[in-house]
Amino acid sequence: MTQHTIDVTPAPQATVAGWWRDAVIYQVYVRSFADSNGDGIGDLAGVRERLPHLAELGVDALWLTPFYTSPMADFGYDVADYRDVDPIFGDLDDARALIRDAHDRGLRIIVDVVPNHTSDRHAWFQEALAAEPGGAARARYIFREGRGEDGSRPPNDWESVFGGPAWTRVPDGQWYLHLFAPEQPDLNWENPEVHAEFEDVLRFWLDLGVDGFRVDVAHGMVKAAGLPDAGFGDQVTMLGRTVLPYFDQDGVHAIHRSWRRLLDSYGGERIAVAEAWAPNAERLSLYVRPDELHQAFNFHYLTVGWDPREKRDVIDESLRTAGQVGAPTTWVLSNHDVKRHVTRYGGGEVGLRRGRAAALLMLALPGSAYIYQGEELGLSEVLDLPEEFLQDPQRARDPESGRDGCRVPLPWSGDAPPFGFGPGEASWLPIPPHWADLTVERQSADPDSMLSLYRAALRLRREHPALGDGTLRWLVGPPGTLVFSREAAPGSGAAAAGARLTCAVNLGDRTARIPAYGRPLLASGPIRPDGDCIVLPPDTAVWCDVTTGGEPGKDR
Ligand code: NOJ
Ligand code: CA
Repeated sequence: MTQHTIDVTPAPQATVAGWWRDAVIYQVYVRSFADSNGDGIGDLAGVRERLPHLAELGVDALWLTPFYTSPMADFGYDVADYRDVDPIFGDLDDARALIRDAHDRGLRIIVDVVPNHTSDRHAWFQEALAAEPGGAARARYIFREGRGEDGSRPPNDWESVFGGPAWTRVPDGQWYLHLFAPEQPDLNWENPEVHAEFEDVLRFWLDLGVDGFRVDVAHGMVKAAGLPDAGFGDQVTMLGRTVLPYFDQDGVHAIHRSWRRLLDSYGGERIAVAEAWAPNAERLSLYVRPDELHQAFNFHYLTVGWDPREKRDVIDESLRTAGQVGAPTTWVLSNHDVKRHVTRYGGGEVGLRRGRAAALLMLALPGSAYIYQGEELGLSEVLDLPEEFLQDPQRARDPESGRDGCRVPLPWSGDAPPFGFGPGEASWLPIPPHWADLTVERQSADPDSMLSLYRAALRLRREHPALGDGTLRWLVGPPGTLVFSREAAPGSGAAAAGARLTCAVNLGDRTARIPAYGRPLLASGPIRPDGDCIVLPPDTAVWCDVTTGGEPGKDR
């Protein structure tokens, strides 16, 4: 079957009330999305020019990674001025124009806010360096005396996420804390001045019209009192798996509550999504209690493999824990910090097949989904970038952990790099020549492409009353498969009409026969009917409409 077995009408606009509960949010890594001026670096005007692609794709909102003034030690996650645009990316007028044009197309805009640390070039940090130890300028950051008689050992055993000690010594002998690169000094959230400054920064962007924030390191702003030792080494391997004295401290929730009050004081349901690495799903759900942030990225979902048991467990656990606090779940497969999932799921043809099936699985689940730019094109991790291009500071920890390979600029059109990324020949990372087959232009013309699959799935998701927010019911399926039913919200007209959809995914290595629950709407690969069943090959997913027929199987 081809992907287009149903006629779809143009997507309706998301309703305002609770729009974020089942929004599909597209992550734009600005540096690599589209370059408007030919310098080889993506920019805000480039995003603006490419809005038609995003509108046609059918997403509800864009999340833009940091485009603020920055020396780019961590590609913008080191902010020197939170209220301005880095010249590489444009200026404030470009930001205003982008917000306006996106809104005109019915797309909401979420921007990143980076409150755990500033750049070392931020005026505050420059002031702190010039000031005496113990003064007000240093109290905005976390400066301490070192250990040992001459203070030459770091104040505690904390390790930077990018490798080495989380402390750097300044010429007068004090040390400052940086959980990431030395160019990213951690702010002191015990200091009311820091709170006031960030409230003002949030207001600045809300006044400019943004619809929300992605909160960077939302689990890190508050450190355990007294800055106690972690007590063990190689801490980075334990991130998101155990309690660390510098992450997921209870104190962060007061900050998120105050931010929620601020967001709620604006109209239009402005939201915040937490980038929070919590040791378990219960702890993660605390960030999305009704008076805190709206969403949190579901990194537990991102990190599980292509395994039916693991997938099902994380789905159940995510729905249970978010449901306990009345929040929607989120789903995410890739972002700018991890290997692209087509590669994680096996690479090559297998990875692509699984990537297609994973898209249908994710987009059928209740809640909100995040799409990382390029996943709609089936891009894989670029593993053979020449050494001289590699710039990610995380490589200091371990060259293999470098994130450049998932940040390669997007291929838009044409037969040779940089594939319409910009008007010139340049792209800040080289684009593999074989991506000629993966350009937006080429895939738009192919009904069986990954792009066509994403477009069709997103249209159906908007159209079908059983998809989006709500609950799911597991159905019996053969070993290796996951089969579930989605139903329209209770009390709605669609529910009265029995609107239902089933999603079946074969994550096993054998072809499975599943009951034909209804009319197949969309499949990620070749399926075929066989009597009352559908034959579902490995690494394949199908959506069936059961509104007008087909009896869903028994609950598991
Ligand atoms: C998380 C961001 O996604 C990542 O790219 C960045 O390096 C760290 N936070 C530090 O800001
Ligand atoms: Ca540019």
